[in-house]
Amino acid sequence: MILVTGGAGFIGSNFVLDWLAGCDEPVLNLDKLTYAGNLANLKSLEGDARHVFVQGDIGDAALVGQLLRAYRPRAIVNLAAESHVDRSIRDADGFIATNVVGTYRLLEAARAYWSDLDAADKASFRFLHVSTDEVYGSLAPGAPAFTEGHPHAPNSPYSASKAASDHLVRAWYHTHGLPVLTTNCSNNYGPYHFPEKLIPLTIVNALAGRPLPVYGDGQQVRDWLFVADHCRAIGRVLQAGRVGETYNVGGCNEQTNLCVVHTVCDLLDALEPRPGGQSHRALIAHVPDRPGHDRRYAIDARKIERELGWKPAETFATGMRKTVQWYLAHPDWVRDVQSGAYRAWVSQHYGAASAKAGA
Ligand code: NAD
Ligand code: TYD
Repeated sequence: MILVTGGAGFIGSNFVLDWLAGCDEPVLNLDKLTYAGNLANLKSLEGDARHVFVQGDIGDAALVGQLLRAYRPRAIVNLAAESHVDRSIRDADGFIATNVVGTYRLLEAARAYWSDLDAADKASFRFLHVSTDEVYGSLAPGAPAFTEGHPHAPNSPYSASKAASDHLVRAWYHTHGLPVLTTNCSNNYGPYHFPEKLIPLTIVNALAGRPLPVYGDGQQVRDWLFVADHCRAIGRVLQAGRVGETYNVGGCNEQTNLCVVHTVCDLLDALEPRPGGQSHRALIAHVPDRPGHDRRYAIDARKIERELGWKPAETFATGMRKTVQWYLAHPDWVRDVQSGAYRAWVSQHYGAASAKAGA
């Protein structure tokens, strides 16, 4: 089996669902269930013995050690993190605790477990760390996209904490020989995206007739990737990535924030017109800019394409259409995430038990 951390979050739950749709290798899913973790994302796995959910912290060395000894995974895919830049600006504590200290503790637990494996299992074991393009900092207009050799130059508390985790992973390879892999991916979008991030926030606010906040001039550029494409990239790197290497993952799809918001509005105008017939674009509201806002990210994904044959399957047009359609088809998910009702569902469903199979 594989151990996935953060498997109840946006990318984590997409990864677990895709993984189990594609093979029968079981997943041990360790997630703290912060505000961003949502077991409702994994509802379709209820009763599925291939999925074992454990509520817990990657920084809990005793718990992680015990899980590794009990379940003996052949790999760890580390997706657990605090992930929202705006929250990191308001309070970075949780970002340091999970992204830095938590990753360190997870690496140490993995190293202890890996050291005791027999030679064959030791050679095939992998620790795959999922990171972000934000560690590379901000690009000037027209500057070449980030390659794997681009220096880390993080600008936000979030990206600084992720950069620190990348460095720790690298050090555990160079110093201790732990067989690590790192992926640095651009902005994801798709189903189960928590509506604090730009695309899901724009969709749910537009549907409710609320303002669509655009920071500053809205000309900041991100390289958007449909989440299923990212999940396939992680699977491919786990399968065939070279130990100790970093792989950049991106959609080759640079868009300004304003353009992204317009795309959402235009799709909703076609799929769910407003009662008065006005475009959803009328809801756009420019608000003060994010402090330290990175102007541009862009990923050069030629290494993963060349070495591992990975390419995104979705274009921005097809991925965005699927995403907006998913939100339109899942009003209950949106309502529960916003009301916090999914938390009540968790305690009602699991009570005090910390671990359940088939969650
Ligand atoms: P998310 O915030 O939606 O989910 C994070 C998950 O981790 C949640 O389920 C949360 O409960 C869990 N978690 C948080 N702290 C934990 C801890 N201490 N122990 C165990 N679980 C914990 O984040 P996401 O968008 O799914 O991102 C997943 C990973 O991918 C992160 O490492 C993030 O940095 C990286 N990433 C995200 C994007 C993106 O666009 N979302 C892009 C590139 C990389
Ligand atoms: P976000 O989804 O928070 O991802 P990240 O900061 O990790 O890139 O933001 C994407 C872009 O959208 C970023 O440039 C900030 C901007 N943004 C807005 O303009 N308005 C918003 O309400 C939010 C949440 C983000």
